[in-house]
Amino acid sequence: MDNAPIGIFDSGLGGLTVARAVIDQLPDEDIVYLGDTAHAPYGPRPIAEVRQLTLWGLDRLVEAGAKALVIACNTATAAALSDARERYWVGQHIPVIEVVTPAARAAVVATHNHKIGVIGTQATIQSEAYVNALAAVPGLRVFQQACPLFVEYVEAGQTAGPELEGIAREYLAPLKEEGVDTLILGCTHYPLLTGVIGRVMGDNVRLVTSSATTANVTYNELVDRDLLHAPCRGAGDEPQHQFLTTDASSRFPILARRFLGPEVQSVSEVPSLPLEGGAQ
Ligand code: DGL
Repeated sequence: MDNAPIGIFDSGLGGLTVARAVIDQLPDEDIVYLGDTAHAPYGPRPIAEVRQLTLWGLDRLVEAGAKALVIACNTATAAALSDARERYWVGQHIPVIEVVTPAARAAVVATHNHKIGVIGTQATIQSEAYVNALAAVPGLRVFQQACPLFVEYVEAGQTAGPELEGIAREYLAPLKEEGVDTLILGCTHYPLLTGVIGRVMGDNVRLVTSSATTANVTYNELVDRDLLHAPCRGAGDEPQHQFLTTDASSRFPILARRFLGPEVQSVSEVPSLPLEGGAQ
């Protein structure tokens, strides 16, 4: 047993879709969530910068006492997973869970025609993280599409409407033309756009997100490593969740509760990593 919190990291709000699934599957656990809103979106940033920001964010979660780390961001996973595993798992025996492999596995199970579409940020698509994760499966065809504006809409709290639908139609048209029957939402922000993406892709295309499958992996890691929180929690012994952002003047504090639910009781600001040359 280990009563320390699970640390969950994202560039902003998207990781809340993973946090929701972790809370649902592991209701006794405490969560400490950090959204690096001061630097969101990560998608257009150079990979080296995303790696630096991600390791910085994970360090903050380790300082907050995290017993396991969930990189709830595809872009951060693509940029920093192997460094993070070396630093925290090899160096400190803290398991690091990511979002790409669980979604890739779920897509392989879901597809019938072996044509899988992947949408994500510019950085995730350029990294080919999903193409590599799916490469070992014979006979699969993978079609990728970057959707850079989606994260900005989510961070602004705009998850529906004709303008967004028009953008989605443009982004998704090439994948529809290829006839994919399964679409990986390869960005943790995108489950918040499931309505519009599902409407554009149509009923015959299965949408695969990493939230529930990543929560499954988190569950297994905690069980296998004997890290579960002690079970008996009653009145007065509820799980304690902390939500941290690097920019409280963003919409994060307002939208976190809307996107995750009543577990978000307050949001605290932590100082962000100053980037070289003063870039934000
Ligand atoms: N939610 C993140 C992802 O899964 C990052 C989005 C961004 O900050 O660009 O890729």
